[in-house]
Amino acid sequence: MATYITDILAGKLGSMLQYGEMTTLHLGSQTWILLNTKEVAEAIIHKNGRITNERPEMPIAGGLVSHDKRTVIRQTKHWTEGRRVMHHLLSGSVLKTYGSWQESASLQLLSSYLDDPERWFAHHFRYSLDVLYRVVMGDDLINKTQAELDDFQQAGMEFVRSLAQSMIDFFPILDKIPAFMQPWRLYWKDMGDRHRKVMVDWWQPVYAQVQAGMAGPSFVRDTLLNPDMKYKGNEEEAMYLAVSVMTAGGDNTRMSLNTFIMSMIDNPAHFAIARAQLDKVCGVSSQSMRLPGMQDFEQLPYISAIIKEVLRWRPTVPLVPPHQLTEDLQCKHYFFPAGVSFVINNVAIGQGVPEWDTYDPARWLDGTESNLIYNHWAFGGGRRICVGYRIAHQALWIAIARLIFCFDLIPAGEYNTRVLNHVSLEEPFPVKFSARSEVHKALIRVAANAEVEKEKANG
Ligand code: HEM
Repeated sequence: MATYITDILAGKLGSMLQYGEMTTLHLGSQTWILLNTKEVAEAIIHKNGRITNERPEMPIAGGLVSHDKRTVIRQTKHWTEGRRVMHHLLSGSVLKTYGSWQESASLQLLSSYLDDPERWFAHHFRYSLDVLYRVVMGDDLINKTQAELDDFQQAGMEFVRSLAQSMIDFFPILDKIPAFMQPWRLYWKDMGDRHRKVMVDWWQPVYAQVQAGMAGPSFVRDTLLNPDMKYKGNEEEAMYLAVSVMTAGGDNTRMSLNTFIMSMIDNPAHFAIARAQLDKVCGVSSQSMRLPGMQDFEQLPYISAIIKEVLRWRPTVPLVPPHQLTEDLQCKHYFFPAGVSFVINNVAIGQGVPEWDTYDPARWLDGTESNLIYNHWAFGGGRRICVGYRIAHQALWIAIARLIFCFDLIPAGEYNTRVLNHVSLEEPFPVKFSARSEVHKALIRVAANAEVEKEKANG
């Protein structure tokens, strides 16, 4: 199986720690400073957040591939308005509603595991996107074909790969020479145009429904296109914002679920601990047994600890997109000139704990495990911090709790815990799943059917 560049890169990033708490990289005309410890990330990204939140100019990944509109790498003057409206995604009251949608989407995930266990990785993507599609667009994925899902996933993966892949982003000045002297342009422009087409295909039906007053509650209907919210962007910007949220959320959740599976096949003892705790709360005899649900969140802190450990052990975002400094900064005994970019190195940060190479969720059990961003940099930081970390927490929590409760899993061949093959539409590593028992199977079927009936009744 091919080893992807992201897996190789992740292997190298940890070694940066040997050079100290920061590593300076000169990449073309850009200077990147990798932040290799929690302490420096805290000092620079949190404590100096006012001046460390710009994104550098990226003519390829930001310009041609994203038409200057993907929120995660937009420069501040265009980004703040989108960020203002995205804050609604973090609000406590909407999270409760999302929790019940996530529970219902997870039933579809469990059913797919029963029906077609070989395609477990594809079910992860559908589930992750389903949750986001409901939250952002207000619809479910039932009418989307596998080809549409593949196109969407492909566009997301290509965008991520475009980050730091073109040398032109490290020499942004080259973007200023006449276009006919830029032989690379066509390749990236084609990619960006293809991505836009995918976005339009996903956006237009929802936009039309909102305009016709037929749409269900969603981020698009209630925030982006709701006149009371006074969003100042145009329709194109609204489309990029909505679809970017779905892409960022869907793909990171998918990758985190895949990594969780890898962590469990490699660490059956931790799987057994989690299952024993789930059994205690949800029952083991057929009379009293029920599926875990969001109501068990407080009683099962080990599941949140698993999430934090998965994201430390093999971070889904090894390098957080660069945070550019907008003013000169003196921090501790270092001087940084305006214009340098700070890059949170999650691989090295993850190695700054005792016995870092050992997978052990219990290291997070200190009463703060249900706050995913406490003492953790998987979601970035400062004003650019991931707007979806609470949604991600719930989506991962319910899926992980239910998968551990209902399914057995073993490796189905050779695997390497450092080769996660995230950039693939095929099975990333070999795993065999089976339902834990007929009773567990029946629990899933009954709950999934009840959900279908409920949705039919709600129209
Ligand atoms: C395990 C899952 C996830 C991980 C590891 C993750 C990680 C990240 C990281 C590292 C950033 C950049 C932060 C920075 O620059 O400091 C980010 C930004 C972002 N994330 Fe997430 N994320 C996850 C899930 C989600 C979900 C579920 C959503 C959707 C609700 C989401 C939406 C976004 C958006 C829209 C941005 C850009 C924010 C902005 O432009 O201000 N993410 N995420």
